[in-house]
Amino acid sequence: VVARQAAALDVRAYVIGGFVRDLILKRPSKDIDIVCIGSGIDLAEAVGRELKVPVVVFKNFGTAMLPSGREPDVVTEESKPVPAGPTLGWEVEFVGARKESYRSESRKPIVEDGTLEDDQNRRDFTINAMGISLNENDFGQLLDPFGGLEDLRRKTIRTPLSPAITFSDDPLRMMRAIRFATQLGFDIEPDTFDAIVEMKDRLAIVSRERITDELNKIILSPKPSYGFKLLYHAGLLDFIFPELLLLKGVETIEGKGHKDNFYHTLQVLDNVSERSDDLWLRWAALLHDIAKPATKRFDPKVGWTFHGHEDLGAKQVPGIFRQMKLPLNEKMRFVKKLVRLHLRPIALVKEQITDSALRRLLIEAGDDLEALMNLCRADITSKNYDRVKKHLAN
Ligand code: CTP
Repeated sequence: VVARQAAALDVRAYVIGGFVRDLILKRPSKDIDIVCIGSGIDLAEAVGRELKVPVVVFKNFGTAMLPSGREPDVVTEESKPVPAGPTLGWEVEFVGARKESYRSESRKPIVEDGTLEDDQNRRDFTINAMGISLNENDFGQLLDPFGGLEDLRRKTIRTPLSPAITFSDDPLRMMRAIRFATQLGFDIEPDTFDAIVEMKDRLAIVSRERITDELNKIILSPKPSYGFKLLYHAGLLDFIFPELLLLKGVETIEGKGHKDNFYHTLQVLDNVSERSDDLWLRWAALLHDIAKPATKRFDPKVGWTFHGHEDLGAKQVPGIFRQMKLPLNEKMRFVKKLVRLHLRPIALVKEQITDSALRRLLIEAGDDLEALMNLCRADITSKNYDRVKKHLAN
């Protein structure tokens, strides 16, 4: 449909970015970005008319999209509501090819119409800069000026231009590099990684919502610990999540040390992630030892203690959620409860009880956390779930 309408309007159109990358990687994708040499809005409206779906136009940006109707994967406080009306289930975004240049004194880019190459130049990574032609003369041809295909093969995240230019244009891309590396299990090319280390302070101009969106995508990756280690080695963790960095290190007194709670937390996060895709369970894992630094004491008789860290940790959850611009709703209270219980109910998930069943259990237990804790200690399995429920009801 897009190719036909583009031909009728006499504009050249290309599929670009993440869809092309995911097509080659055989990963499922939910969004399609179309770049055209001409007005993206006109093409979107023609496609919307043919498919009889609504078109959302962003005049100021010169872009338009056919909304998917899906809920966003990750909800932050500023997530937009889903528009009403018939939808495709896919989000299709249309943009005219652009050339962007930046003046050093201003963060606002100067945007002009451009060629496909101009548009590919301003993209974040080689693997995200590939296009596929939708035009009659070369339909289906891959347009890959920066060796994105080779980088996919070598499992490498690399910027198309010098990393200093690409990251100055949008410093969030430093987080995106780590996010894509974590989602795909790729390495970050050394010059690209060095530029992140050097330019990390620039992240301060990016909104907290955008940073948290990327952080949540790292947390939702198959092995989130990899992303947190990259954030740590790049020096970004101090800025985006200082409380987590405080967990790092081992103190030794009289020959007695304690475990490094940073690496321990990442291990627990990976373990939970193997059993569950639930973002909030994963957040609970990340925060389960968060108050250990504040409660740490050395007792010459027993060694290191962290008395009361669960209660204090639970108290710290709302502040961390507020700072991260995460929703301050029942999800936050769920995380708080799990931190207070030091993740013991997650044993339920291990026994293949679903996340929603765990949520129900926690809600049903209300504030009687002691009862729940005892039940969890008793190693609940899916078989005796009904008995547990009855007990909680009493
Ligand atoms: N892009 C970019 N710089 C950014 C954000 C996006 O260059 N800061 C470009 C990339 O070409 C990217 C495309 O816009 O592929 C679409 O961005 P986005 O939807 O955020 O990412 P995807 O690559 O589609 O991946 P995902 O859907 O997993 O986020």
